[in-house]
Amino acid sequence: MLHSADSAANPTRPMAAGDLVVVYEGFDNMKSTRIVAGGMFQNRFGGFPHNDWIGRPFGSKAISKKGNGWILLLAPTPELWTNVLRHRTQILYAADIAMVVALLELRPGAVVLETGTGSGSLTHSLARTIAPTGHVYTFEYHEQRAALAAEEFKANGIGHLVTVTHRDIELGGFPEDHRGKADAVFLDLPKPHLVVPSAARCVRPDGMFCSFSPCIEQVQRTCEALNANGFRDMRTLEVLLRQLEVSRQPLVTDMEAPPQHQQQQGGRKKQQRRQGGGDAAAVGGDAKRQKGADGTAAAVAPGGDVPSAEGEAPTAAVGDVPTAQEEAATAAVNGSEPAPEQQPQPPQQQRQQVERQTVSKPVPFGRGHTGYLTFARRVVALA
Ligand SMILES: C[S@@+](CC[C@H](N)C(=O)[O-])C[C@H]1O[C@@H](n2cnc3c(N)ncnc32)[C@H](O)[C@@H]1O
Repeated sequence: MLHSADSAANPTRPMAAGDLVVVYEGFDNMKSTRIVAGGMFQNRFGGFPHNDWIGRPFGSKAISKKGNGWILLLAPTPELWTNVLRHRTQILYAADIAMVVALLELRPGAVVLETGTGSGSLTHSLARTIAPTGHVYTFEYHEQRAALAAEEFKANGIGHLVTVTHRDIELGGFPEDHRGKADAVFLDLPKPHLVVPSAARCVRPDGMFCSFSPCIEQVQRTCEALNANGFRDMRTLEVLLRQLEVSRQPLVTDMEAPPQHQQQQGGRKKQQRRQGGGDAAAVGGDAKRQKGADGTAAAVAPGGDVPSAEGEAPTAAVGDVPTAQEEAATAAVNGSEPAPEQQPQPPQQQRQQVERQTVSKPVPFGRGHTGYLTFARRVVALA
């Protein structure tokens, strides 16, 4: 999990029985599994024998026994763990976690107080950041949840960096033995404002505070409490993620198509309408530009390169067996266009007008607002 030389999941050594592996079936479909000698990973492509994985490096691509599908075998990281962990609560995701780790100014050796522990999503990233000499003290008032989290941290190789305590922090605050010793405090609680006085006692001068709250009313009460308890440099952020999908699309490259081309295109357009491709294919003498979801023209090539029209390498490597997700993604990108090899070969004139180019478009993102992050710095008056 930590990718250090002595970690059980050091990704530079071969996979072995007992290793935790993140099985990648698609960018939005991953699962965790432990390698067992003689074990089998099953999905819709059939079985993938664990014995084939043992002795291979992390990052290997495994082909199903039937040969019709593949998966990737990844070394676990805090980021991947967030994608595969069992949800016992709402969790923090990578975008918020990245901001928390950065703006809490965490580093190896730091001491962090966290509450509530929840499903331990954030805790894994905190532990990785403060390792090897720092420590995360995490508090959770749900007893079973606290026990499960402690077990999981141990199993994932971060148990020595994290202490889980069953405690109601809104009621009792942080234990007094943390007074003045924490470099940072993180709260994910229903009433964070109640804990601000205790946080102020525990954070060292110039240390950082962060609270995650889904509602702006919680933020307002927290900021009032921070102001009253010696915190300054207060900032509330909402981290919104926008993901882009880059793919190959047929696009018009010559805006002044000759009349006979338009004639041919009429037939092609009818064909597209029958296929439901519509404007998505952006093919035609009327030179419609492909548009992204936000309405902006989206024809770009990575790094500013202009890809050549003919003889381009396909996006997937030859011999790949695409997963259903990959096929679905390609279908979504291409509308219902037939695969290139199934398309009728256009005459030379038309080939000059319609080329496959690399384009990008925003991907509709299911998860929108998750919460607000309020950061503040503990300051002390000059004596
Ligand atoms: C949303 S979850 C935290 C998720 C966590 N940040 C993660 O990334 O997995 C909130 C947790 O706070 C715990 N909690 C609520 N009130 C608490 C309190 N007064 N003291 C300690 N923990 C509390 C809940 O039991 C729950 O597990």
